[in-house]
Amino acid sequence: MGVLSVAGAHCDTNPDQAGSDVFIPNPTPKNGLASHIIDALEKLYVWAFYPHPKEPLHYLQGNYAPVQEHEPVSDLVIEGSLPSCLNGEFVRIGPNPKFNPVAGYHWFDGDGMIHALRIKDGKATYAARFVQTSRLKQEEYFGASKFLKIGDMKGVFGFLMGQIFTFRNKFKVIDLSQGSGTGNTAMVYHNGKLMALHEGDKPYAIRVLEDGDLQTLGFLDYEKRLTHPFTAHPKVDPVTGELFTFGYQFESPNCIYRVISKEGIMQEAVPITVSGPIMMHDFAITEHYAIFLDMPLYLLPKEMVKGKLILKFDEKKPARIGILPRYAKNESTIKWFELPTCYAFHNVNAWEEDDEVILYTCRLPEVDLEMAAGPVRKNFKPFQNELYEMRFNMKTGNASQRQLSLSAVDFPRINEKLTGRKQQYAYCTMLSDSTKVKGLVKFDLWAKPAFEGKSKIEVGGNVKGVIDFGSGRFGSEAIFIPRSASEDEVEDDGYLICFVHDEGTGKSEVCVYDARTMAPEPVAVVKLPCRVPYGFHAFFVTEEQLQSQR
Ligand SMILES: [Fe+2]
Repeated sequence: MGVLSVAGAHCDTNPDQAGSDVFIPNPTPKNGLASHIIDALEKLYVWAFYPHPKEPLHYLQGNYAPVQEHEPVSDLVIEGSLPSCLNGEFVRIGPNPKFNPVAGYHWFDGDGMIHALRIKDGKATYAARFVQTSRLKQEEYFGASKFLKIGDMKGVFGFLMGQIFTFRNKFKVIDLSQGSGTGNTAMVYHNGKLMALHEGDKPYAIRVLEDGDLQTLGFLDYEKRLTHPFTAHPKVDPVTGELFTFGYQFESPNCIYRVISKEGIMQEAVPITVSGPIMMHDFAITEHYAIFLDMPLYLLPKEMVKGKLILKFDEKKPARIGILPRYAKNESTIKWFELPTCYAFHNVNAWEEDDEVILYTCRLPEVDLEMAAGPVRKNFKPFQNELYEMRFNMKTGNASQRQLSLSAVDFPRINEKLTGRKQQYAYCTMLSDSTKVKGLVKFDLWAKPAFEGKSKIEVGGNVKGVIDFGSGRFGSEAIFIPRSASEDEVEDDGYLICFVHDEGTGKSEVCVYDARTMAPEPVAVVKLPCRVPYGFHAFFVTEEQLQSQR
């Protein structure tokens, strides 16, 4: 995750053996006199202006601390048994800095590492690999951290570190021509390729090898058509096979919408006018529309003067939701709706009913990204992510919303055969008072909520099941895997799969739960050979997709 990267220039080198649309990053950093002078200046700035907190950096401690890559380890111990429908590769990506930061660190800053569990015929193999980005290759060349971090973009020190980054670019110490993203945020499969995504960069294609190992093929630029960042949360239409995506950036146009055909052809750019340089982390599609969230979290370099992070939520501005016919050639037909100010990192799903477009989302009344940076703190401000339904009447222009849950829920997943279509169940993580995931909750989006008078999320009303990982145990996003590939399957007939870490024992595992019953006892637990740090999003590559890789 992250917002400050540059994805501008094309790479015109090295068409990869795996396909002419994949390019191996081949940056040309230079470790000469200019590099050494800038390094010395950076050291001076850090010594003189970095606040040097007394406590260690929170997101490099405990199970946020980075790990090494891991060769595939097969025949892992399994308690219970892995269901036969689980053949494929379960992956979860997250930040894992290869080199120590020179000063600050934000959870969004780490290099992308993929933790993968190859599951075949009831057996499991684990592997972990970095996404081999242009940025990582350059830092490997120097053997040190050289790229700008969100964790440093605060106060006067942030300006100075921005200056260091500018110098490194200007004097060609680092090479930004092939992007500077970390590939650490989310994964999706489209047109024969598994992609590692970071919203400040282009997608990186990852090949899943038969033994479960992972190989970074290179980045995709869709025949040089992709000239802007690419969201970490594109949507695959399960009916048409198209990929709907967008990118946001500091410069105008601040948001650009794209449709990619089933065959991987990127259509013309559709600029979307939003209220400024916002961070738009997610969007949504329905059968006929694309939905854009113009919510007031801005990239404001001036905020650093006030000692704040570069990303600032402006509670005085409303939440704007734009709904565009999804094959529109320009934004002239977009309809904008307003709701009270809020932010949403992740949407559940959206669909159409009569004149209305309905969006389900994990809504925050405000957002403070400083909580994911800086030193260890004893007390975190509790998250307030609540499940919400938002309705937009395309005829009258009216917008309304209602709360569907208590806090804090996020990282929603559904049966993705129903993306953009009316569906019933959502599976969210339950967050502790930090960014740790303490359990899973299943919502029935059609049922009436019954949280009034309750102090915590529990079964009843629209809550159909809760899985608590237990004391000192924390997990990450769970993926729903249908039991059957047939058309007439029951929507929630399948499994939830996720990584879980026990802070008491220091051990990690992959747990598989029955999504229909939400029974607290997993149907299978795969014991992992090493610690898996907490991270961001997960994905399940089916055996069919794995065999169809190009
Ligand atoms: Fe995300």
